[in-house]
This record gives sequence, structure tokens and C-alpha cells, in this order.
Amino acid sequence: SGGPRYLSSRIDDLPGFAFAFDIDGVLLRSSGIIAGAPEALALLHRNNIPFILLTNGGGKHESARVHELSKKLGVPITEENFVQSHTPFKELVEGSEAIEGLKDKTVLVTGGDGDKCRKVAEMYGFKNVVIPGDILMEYPTIWPFNQIFSDYYHKSTRPLPRQVDPTNPSTSLKIDAIFVFNDPRDWALDSQIILDLLLSKDGVIGTYSEKNGDPTLPNNGWQQDNQPALFFSNPDLFWATSYHLPRLGQGGFQASLQGVWDATTNNATLSRTVIGKPFAHTYRYAERVLNKHRAQLLGESIRGASELRRVFMVGDNPESDIRGANEYDSPNGTEWTSVLVSKTGVYRAGMEPKYKPQVIVDDVLAAVKWALKEEG
Ligand code: G3P
Ligand code: MG
Repeated sequence: SGGPRYLSSRIDDLPGFAFAFDIDGVLLRSSGIIAGAPEALALLHRNNIPFILLTNGGGKHESARVHELSKKLGVPITEENFVQSHTPFKELVEGSEAIEGLKDKTVLVTGGDGDKCRKVAEMYGFKNVVIPGDILMEYPTIWPFNQIFSDYYHKSTRPLPRQVDPTNPSTSLKIDAIFVFNDPRDWALDSQIILDLLLSKDGVIGTYSEKNGDPTLPNNGWQQDNQPALFFSNPDLFWATSYHLPRLGQGGFQASLQGVWDATTNNATLSRTVIGKPFAHTYRYAERVLNKHRAQLLGESIRGASELRRVFMVGDNPESDIRGANEYDSPNGTEWTSVLVSKTGVYRAGMEPKYKPQVIVDDVLAAVKWALKEEG
């Protein structure tokens, strides 16, 4: 498709500002549309003002999610203007930032329904992806309480990449890295298996190493005794859903795993990499996506077009959306302005936000109107 994706007429320039919208608590609550969200995005769409959606959510491939979001919100959302919590993991296996050899290593991926996140990881380029259910089906006794979920696991698991015998470490499966792509559905099984791997020798299922977690040992980054690297995609302790009170998010699972690790290892350091809002890694990634999206819209007009000088980050969670925008130091000198909604998400009017936004407004439509007035 040649021309600008969603603009009816050719454009010679774009404004020097754009928007980044959080999803949960700003545009949607679970699957429900928040009043004013379609109008807010339509207003920008009609006026050729670019935006991206930047969410700590995930669990499906971007291509599937943008299809759903376009239908729901009434404007074209594509992979060019959409960043989920795990989207940046793509860069670990492709392009200049790829970790040498990681794509061919065996990784454990958890989170999301069934094995959807396995399929996302495979579409990113990971070649050998195992999910906790695969390990459970091979070793039903690895977690004694899972009989009640056996139908669920039968539907979404695969045989392990190689036959393994836990009593014979030389035949066992070695996991080189652990990725939490989305909220685990079975915190118990996933916690047990991730703990087993973190305490294992060389990431081999069924082994145990006294060295891992030993606080007296120097912790050379993630690898105490070839401990598998541990990655989380979203630090959110709470998020806004169709329930009236905030619900525990992937950050809740991380805190729970941390508690089990601390109790098991007497508070040894648990090395991990966490991406997602508020971390600069995700904001840098989002800014690159936004600039690429503007360039695609401009096509050959890019040469004379205005630089992106300001992004309005509209969010509902001071700990992620607001903190991230406030603390992000753009390599392009782009100013990120934090806008907090007070009636539709985690933050509620009257609370004292720990991270102060540039402005607090009722909802996403009010946020867009405020920003357009700001830009005159
Ligand atoms: O799991 C999603 C939740 O953590 C928050 O998502 O869209 O508000 O960043 P979002
Ligand atoms: Mg949110």
C-alpha cells in the first residue's frame, strides 16, 4: 500500500506534536470502550495529527490486537502505531540490538491465555519456545495441584523439544531465558517452575544448585550458576479493568515471585530485566515507532516536514504513564508532556498522585482538547 495509510488527501506536513495513548483506563476498561475515546481519536484522525497506542498490556500478537482495536475505536490502528508491553522483545532476536544466538536458544515464555504468547514469541523469531504447561504435562508431579486444570493444559501444550529425564541431568531440558510476556493465568505453577529454573544448575529442569541465590556469592549479573536470564514485560502492580477497583497486574506476579525467592534464598539478589512503562527502554522504543509512523505518513514529503518536538502522553496510572513521560529524556530532544485522566482509570480525582502530571483532566477527550488548545 503506497500512500499515507489513513489520510484521505496527500499531506505535505504534519504538526510538530503527536499523542501517545495508554489503553487500559484511558480508551478501554477490559473490553468496554470508555466514553469519549472514539471521538478523541476521530478528532485527531480528521486533523492528520499522528498518535500511537502505548500499553503495558499484551498477550496477543500485535496484528491480532490492532484488528480488534480498530473495530472497537473506529479509527485505523496498525502495527505502525501500536506498542504493547512485549513488543520490544522483538528486538532481542532481530535487528541490530539482537542478543547473539538467543533466537536459537530454548526459552520459557509465560503469560496470556493458553499458548498464545508462545505463538507471539515464535512470530517474533524465537525458535524453541516452551511454556510451563508443556513441562507440567511431561512431569505431572512437578506441581501436585494441577489435575483440576488438566483439560486446559491438554488443549494448549506441546511435547517438550526433547525427551527429558529429571533424574538424568545430561538428558534434561535446558532453559536459557525466561520471559513473562503477560499476566500468568496460573501463578502457582509458573512460580514453581520459574523458581526451579532460577535454582537449577545451568537452567536444566530437575536439577538444583546450592550456588544460585547464595547471597555470599558474587552475583555476576544474571548468571550466578548459569541461572537463566529473567525478563518481565510490564511492572504494573495494579491496572484498571471492568471491576470498579484496580486489579493486580503482572507487577503483582513479579512481587509474588520475589517473595518466594526471598523466602527461599534468604533475600539473595534476584537479577531480572523489566521493560514496559515507566522505563526509558519502552519510551525510547515508542518514540522510534512514532517517528517511523510520521515518516510513513509523510512519504516523500518527509524532507520538508516539521520535526516531532512534543508528545502528549495520556495515561491513567501515575506510576507508569506519568512517571515514564516525566522521567524520559528523549535523544531527539522531544518533550513528553504527561496528561493524567482522573475519572476513568487507576488514578481517581482527589488522590495525591505520587508522580505529578503536567495536567489532570477528566478523560481522554478532555485530554485531547486541552492539548490542542496548548498547541493553539
Ligand atoms: O496488563 C495491562 C495493564 O498492566 C495496564 O495496561 O494499557 O494501562 O498500560 P495499560
Ligand atoms: Mg492504563
